Amino acid sequence: MKVTYYGHSCFGIETQGQHILFDPFITPNPLASAIDISNIKANYILVSHGHQDHVADVKSIAQNTDSLVISNFEIINWFGSKGVAKLHPMSIGGQKKLDFGKIKYVNAIHASSMPDGTYGGSPGGFVVDCEEKKFYFAGDTALTYDMKLLKEFHQLNFAFLPIGDNFTMGVDDAILAADFIGCTKIIGMHYDTFPYIEIDKEEALEKFQKAGLELILFIIGETKEL
Ligand code: NI
Ligand code: MN
Repeated sequence: MKVTYYGHSCFGIETQGQHILFDPFITPNPLASAIDISNIKANYILVSHGHQDHVADVKSIAQNTDSLVISNFEIINWFGSKGVAKLHPMSIGGQKKLDFGKIKYVNAIHASSMPDGTYGGSPGGFVVDCEEKKFYFAGDTALTYDMKLLKEFHQLNFAFLPIGDNFTMGVDDAILAADFIGCTKIIGMHYDTFPYIEIDKEEALEKFQKAGLELILFIIGETKEL
């Protein structure tokens, strides 16, 4: 499974010829200025919640790629009102079968409003169950005991967790989250984009290592095989 980082919490996954994109926030992100969104492939765009730093490029990439946008009901209605054509609504706890496997929209402890202030439903994350691998994309969230359900019912190969603190979990809580979800391979996201969430990456890597976990930090634009 190929994973590409586009900065902040935006990742592209390629599995079985399908491209899945999470939380596109690229054109407003100065750290991602080398990324040309017209080159990004997507069959599906999965949106965790409505905040600007997760939805900024959803409409343009959806239109470039003719992809299906999947998120909660309120976010999907909002994108419908903005002229996005292919949409699929979910709510927390729901599962949906797609070409590449099954997704489940799971709880996140955070907030969700659209860039214009419209109510953005309940924030979430996704458990993605592909033939190749199973993974969890946490979105923006605090540490929560709900994560223990993932350990009980999913054998995750890796997980995307926020580590930037202030608006989400920081490194210490992400280490506890890794234990809650029963996964040792963690990809860090939602750090360094803004001054509020700048972190000491060396310290983060050391803390994960000491806890017996692997923290993977991508360079923006980098692709890894996971
Ligand atoms: Ni947020
Ligand atoms: Mn955010």
